[in-house]
Amino acid sequence: MPGQDNDRGQWSSKLGFIFAAAGSAIGLGNIWRFPYVTGLNGGAAFVFVYLLCVLVIGLPYLYAELALGRAIQKNPVGAISSLRPKSGWIWVGGLGIVTGLFILSYYAVIAGWTFGYIFKMMIPNELSFGNFVANPLLVSILFSVFMLLTILVVYGGVQGGIEKWAKILMPILFVLLIALIVYSNLLPGSSRGLSFYLKPDFSKINGSVILAALGQAFFSLSLGMGLMVTYGSYISKSDNLISSGIYVALADTAIAIMSGLIIFPALFAMNQDPAAGPGLVFNVFPAIFKNMPFGIFVGVIFFILLSIAALTSTISLLEVPTAFLVDEKGVARKIAVWIVGIIVFVLGIPSALSQGAVGWLSKPIINGMEFLSLMDFIWGNLSLAFGAFLLSIFVGWVWGAKHAAKELAMGNPGFVRWAPVWGFLIRFICPITIFIILLNLFKIF
Ligand code: PFF
Repeated sequence: MPGQDNDRGQWSSKLGFIFAAAGSAIGLGNIWRFPYVTGLNGGAAFVFVYLLCVLVIGLPYLYAELALGRAIQKNPVGAISSLRPKSGWIWVGGLGIVTGLFILSYYAVIAGWTFGYIFKMMIPNELSFGNFVANPLLVSILFSVFMLLTILVVYGGVQGGIEKWAKILMPILFVLLIALIVYSNLLPGSSRGLSFYLKPDFSKINGSVILAALGQAFFSLSLGMGLMVTYGSYISKSDNLISSGIYVALADTAIAIMSGLIIFPALFAMNQDPAAGPGLVFNVFPAIFKNMPFGIFVGVIFFILLSIAALTSTISLLEVPTAFLVDEKGVARKIAVWIVGIIVFVLGIPSALSQGAVGWLSKPIINGMEFLSLMDFIWGNLSLAFGAFLLSIFVGWVWGAKHAAKELAMGNPGFVRWAPVWGFLIRFICPITIFIILLNLFKIF
């Protein structure tokens, strides 16, 4: 993170924050999770609900986290306990930290596959995705390597360097995705994919589609666990939080939508099933590269860029519990990183082995979900939504939307006009909508 341990420090500039927050937001959630969840939930209708969730709930809620962080200048637990010392609200911050640990535990497993695919692209082989992820040694090594990479970056405090790289590499990812969109949409038979993805059939919308869309919006924007409270705490008071938030949300949403514009046309051109689940991207992208001119080269570059996008997200996930141990428990930063890293590693082993490597972990546990998918559902979906429900109440009612709005107007005086609208969204729309969607869940099971 920016700054030293004794001085909390700040991002070097407004752009520094935007890139770090976009680096956290843009990751596997956009390119791996978004297309497969879209495929499972029927396509365009899901995309429509997802966009609505980003606009009406995700963005206003992002401002709540940023305002809290910049006003109090602390991690989520510290920020809440400064405002309401010794209250039960502190547990909300605690939930965020636990959620971060669990999300990282399976996220790094998938990031490990991505990393492994760089080499799989280079070496001629017939290894299918199914056999790749079912190999216990392979997945364990890849998971360990990716965790170690994350730990070393956070340990060495070289995020500055990573940020610099991300500034160069993320625009390259953007250009590569555009080229792939063009290629994929020129494949014969691709237009059916485009209409699956963009022509909504509203009768497909139901409670579980809405829950999936809301969860995806939180996951993709890195919301619901206080990460943006932590990142917001490093923003300068003179920066414009409103426009920064819009840039982050726009970049994140654009990358997700672009990923779908590649996957679905190609998928239908190849007559594959859109509802294939978490393996979708790992099957479809290599199949695209296989028939493409310079396909190996493009494939290697693609998986390198995706690994780096994942790394800027794993760094942010590791940062939240680490900042908590440093700020609140006085643990030295370098020790804290290792403590958190080792806990996450242990938590992640069952996920790593749940894709065929170990039989009982790979069997469906509930609603057809094996261990990793269950982790993703509980932590990446439910827990983020629940955390956002509680935090929107905290900011809207306990701390007070007025105080938060004052913070948001700093650096953007024009916000004063919008403050009542935002206040309404954060006090009523966010918590009530999330509550209803979560209630619906009981019906689903
Ligand atoms: N937003 C990241 C992605 O879409 O890949 C994942 C993530 C990072 C979720 C950080 C939550 C978080 F706090």
